[in-house]
Amino acid sequence: MDSLKYLRSFINRDSGILLDIESSSPDRDDIQPSIETELGKFLGLIIRLTNAKKVLEIGSGIGYSTIWLGEAVKVTSGKVVTIDNHERTHKEVIKNIKAAGLNNWVEIKLGDAEDLIMDFEDEWDIVFQDGGKYLYPVLHDKIVRLTRPGGLIIADDTMFKVNTQVRKGLGEYMDEYNKMVFADSRLYSTILPVGHGITVSLKIGPDSE
Ligand SMILES: C[S@@+](CC[C@H](N)C(=O)[O-])C[C@H]1O[C@@H](n2cnc3c(N)ncnc32)[C@H](O)[C@@H]1O
Repeated sequence: MDSLKYLRSFINRDSGILLDIESSSPDRDDIQPSIETELGKFLGLIIRLTNAKKVLEIGSGIGYSTIWLGEAVKVTSGKVVTIDNHERTHKEVIKNIKAAGLNNWVEIKLGDAEDLIMDFEDEWDIVFQDGGKYLYPVLHDKIVRLTRPGGLIIADDTMFKVNTQVRKGLGEYMDEYNKMVFADSRLYSTILPVGHGITVSLKIGPDSE
C-alpha cells in the first residue's frame, strides 16, 4: 500500500455527501478537481483548532471543500462565505450544501471574486484560496487585508510549479504567489506537501496605510 492510500484509510468523511461527490467526480470532465480528502480534513482540523467563526472560500467548485468547511463551522458556531463565478457549478453548490444540511452555515455567492471581495470587511479568521490560479497573485494584498491579525490564509495547489503534469502557466502563477507571500512582512508562512501543496500564512503584522 502506498503512503497516500495508507493515510487516506484513516480519514473519515465529516459528511456522507462528501463520499457521494467523490464517487461521482471521476466520471465527470466538466468540472475542475476538488481538494484532496486529507486537505478537507486538515481544513476541518484547523477551523476547530483555531475556533474560526468567519471563513471565506474563493472557488466553491461544486461545493466539496465547502462541505468540509461548513461541517467545521457548524462546530464553532461560525459561518462560511463561498464565492464562485461559474453559473452551472453554482447551482450544484446550492444543491450539495442543501443535501449536506448546511444551509444555516454556508452563504453561497455567485460572481467574480475580484469584484465581490472589494466590499467585504477586514475580519476573516480564515481565507481559503482555491479559485482561478491567476487570481492568487492578483488578490494577494486584498486577501491579507481582509484577514484579521492572528488569522490564517490557506492557498491550495501552490506547488504546481514543480508538478510536471500541470499546465506550465499555472505553475508560474503559483510561483509568483509564493514569492509574494514569503516577501510579505505581514505574514509568517510555510508550504506543506498536502495534495499539490498548500501555502499557509499567519497574519502577524499590521497593514500599512
Ligand atoms: C479548483 S476549483 C474549486 C474546487 C473547490 N474548492 C473544491 O475543492 O471543491 C476552482 C473554482 O474557481 C472558480 N473561479 C475561477 N475564477 C474565478 C473568479 N475570478 N471568481 C470566482 N470564482 C472563480 C471556478 O469556477 C472553479 O469552480
